[in-house]
Amino acid sequence: MKILVTGGAGFIGSAVVRLAIARGHQVVNLDALTYAANLANVAMVAGHPAYAFEQADIRDRAALDRILARHAPDAVMHLAAESHVDRSIDGPGDFVSTNVTGTFHLLEAARKYWTGQGKPAEFRFHHVSTDEVFGSLPPDPAVRFTEDTPYDPRSPYSASKAASDHLVRAWGETYGLPVVLSNCSNNYGPYHFPEKLIPVVILNALAGKPLPIYGTGANIRDWLYVEDHADALLLVLTQGALGRSYNIGGENERSNLDLVRTLCAILDRLHPKAAGSYADQIAFVADRPGHDARYAIDPSRIGAELGWRPSVTVEQGLERTVRWYLDNEDWWRPLLDRQGVGQRLGIKA
Ligand SMILES: NC(=O)c1ccc[n+]([C@@H]2O[C@H](COP(=O)([O-])OP(=O)(O)OC[C@H]3O[C@@H](n4cnc5c(N)ncnc54)[C@H](O)[C@@H]3O)[C@@H](O)[C@H]2O)c1
Repeated sequence: MKILVTGGAGFIGSAVVRLAIARGHQVVNLDALTYAANLANVAMVAGHPAYAFEQADIRDRAALDRILARHAPDAVMHLAAESHVDRSIDGPGDFVSTNVTGTFHLLEAARKYWTGQGKPAEFRFHHVSTDEVFGSLPPDPAVRFTEDTPYDPRSPYSASKAASDHLVRAWGETYGLPVVLSNCSNNYGPYHFPEKLIPVVILNALAGKPLPIYGTGANIRDWLYVEDHADALLLVLTQGALGRSYNIGGENERSNLDLVRTLCAILDRLHPKAAGSYADQIAFVADRPGHDARYAIDPSRIGAELGWRPSVTVEQGLERTVRWYLDNEDWWRPLLDRQGVGQRLGIKA
């Protein structure tokens, strides 16, 4: 299958690109190369005959039309987005522009292309979204997000993603575009840009800097190893039912404080300090405005219908991740100079 992946130079998109190539698909990676992108994430496939790269912005309709006509893909996997909640608090305009308007342009370009191809039933537009569209859960472990949970986004980021989900469903219903959607929990793993919690903690720990915990660290997230997510996404794309959405989660709920303590324990074992524990560097900082208390995914549908389940526990995935950052300083060191990295963002509200 020839797949046009948007956002394929980002964290999750690049995992999808690498896995799709390894599984014998052809991939066209369309990415604007924003601050969050890194072509080093796909360097290992860059010379592969089944891989092509197009630098383009999903808000540029003419470029989208050109790229779709040039490559004639069988499917679009849409991951390009502004993705950092803290940045969405400081600058919501970019989030509405890329995540909402950009998705609109991509849908329209895909509709024109698909119509021009004679509306093939097997074409797919797979929209990759987040569990944050469902809002914030109470602590009760029996309550988790299902595909039927009402939308209740609470940050500019999640509101923009919710809007894009609605657009994709509308293009499916109104124009018959063959869409499929997925909403996943927090990803982590290799190639994670060093502004998100897990890489920040690993790299600050190694640099002897404070490990920032927002508020009391009681906020709970459901952690999903990025390579498990990429596997689930290819399954949804190739076997998901038309018009259906699938929640993808790792069944690994942890409070932020527990997660950071686990990371410190792994670092203490793999890369011990001269004295003391990395946990001594934990520092509680002002909470994020509107910080959602808990996210947790019920992944029953994708398990029952597509046979997917995560391959690693959070402890296994975190250990692999820490080892990867220890072994790949050449990858992360240059990213520390990018705009906003290492600064506290999202507290201007
Ligand atoms: N990271 C997570 O934990 C998580 C969880 C749930 C859902 N998601 C969703 O998965 C997708 C990928 O997330 P990620 O963490 O890999 O994001 P990321 O920020 O690492 O990568 C996003 C990529 O999109 C590109 N991009 C941004 N704006 C663009 C534009 N206007 N035109 C073209 N390309 C553009 C960037 O250059 C970057 O390569 C996003 O849609 C995000 O909402 C992420």
